[in-house]
Amino acid sequence: MSTVNVENRNRYALITGATSGIGYELAVLFAQDSYNLILVARCEDRLQEVTNKLKQLYSVEVTPLAVNLFKSTAAQEIFRATSDMGIQIDVLVNNAGQGEWGPFAETALERDMDIIQLNVNAPVALTRLYLPEMLRRNEGRILQMGSEAGTMPMPLLSVYAATKAFILSFSAALSEELRDTNVTVTALLPGATDTDFFHKAKQDDTVTYREKPLLTPEKVARDGYEALMKGKNRVISGARTKLHVFEGEWLPTEKVASDARKLNEPSSKGGGEKWPVHAASMEERESIMGETGSISGDRKRR
Ligand SMILES: NC(=O)c1ccc[n+]([C@@H]2O[C@H](COP(=O)([O-])OP(=O)(O)OC[C@H]3O[C@@H](n4cnc5c(N)ncnc54)[C@H](OP(=O)(O)O)[C@@H]3O)[C@@H](O)[C@H]2O)c1
Repeated sequence: MSTVNVENRNRYALITGATSGIGYELAVLFAQDSYNLILVARCEDRLQEVTNKLKQLYSVEVTPLAVNLFKSTAAQEIFRATSDMGIQIDVLVNNAGQGEWGPFAETALERDMDIIQLNVNAPVALTRLYLPEMLRRNEGRILQMGSEAGTMPMPLLSVYAATKAFILSFSAALSEELRDTNVTVTALLPGATDTDFFHKAKQDDTVTYREKPLLTPEKVARDGYEALMKGKNRVISGARTKLHVFEGEWLPTEKVASDARKLNEPSSKGGGEKWPVHAASMEERESIMGETGSISGDRKRR
């Protein structure tokens, strides 16, 4: 049981993708700081599990919203739900995101469209819906989940990296637009982090995942949370990430692309040993490859 932060106990943070990886660790940090939470993800069971745990541990209000951000109307659905509950959002965390590994000509078009919807359209729409209220109050914080991938072309993960480049550009422009207000926008740029992301993206046999040191979601969340609370425009998590971002922004594009490709190539290491099975990513892959061919399938029942 942590001490109550009186300043925050009537405040609400809305976090997308709050049931796993970096989003979950962010939810813990907000709860520890006495923020009430609106948690968004698809899997109702896991949402309920996280809701119960955070309520019990930190005595904050936690409201789960099972919404599939692959749907084009998802942001409006979330906004309507919080408005109907009379809840004012003080902090918006656009964290949910996915990628898809593979040569662009071979990835499923629907999957790429889903990823653009989730990584770009959903955060833009949520930001557009919640920002005017924050400006009216002249108070609010927005965390946009970027990535080191947003600073470089990434062969074999091309659509994903491009979505994150969008987020970085969008966040930097908004930060400048909001410079004279008390509303801040912070872009978080993690490097490769050991979460279910790699399994969902079919990226877990790559050099990056098998051979390179990975960040922990706890560290990334902590870096993002601290920068958000300080109102910083951008934070890069991890020393190796800082080097990658520096290279991405300063070296010739062709060199950066060819280096990034090497990291995304299949690894020769590992000898076929089994990786831990993650229920969420197994289901993600099944919904993509499944007999129905449904890609945007509703996974609320998991
Ligand atoms: N891991 C990395 O190496 C890395 C590096 C840089 C940036 N990032 C970014 O960090 C963010 C979080 O990723 P993570 O690594 O923490 O991955 P993760 O462990 O797979 O977590 C993803 C979260 O998003 C939710 N989610 C996924 N698809 C969704 C959808 N269609 N609608 C609603 N919620 C959805 C998931 O819950 P449900 O499955 O129940 O929906 C889960 O809560 C992403 O934006 C990612 O691009 C990750």
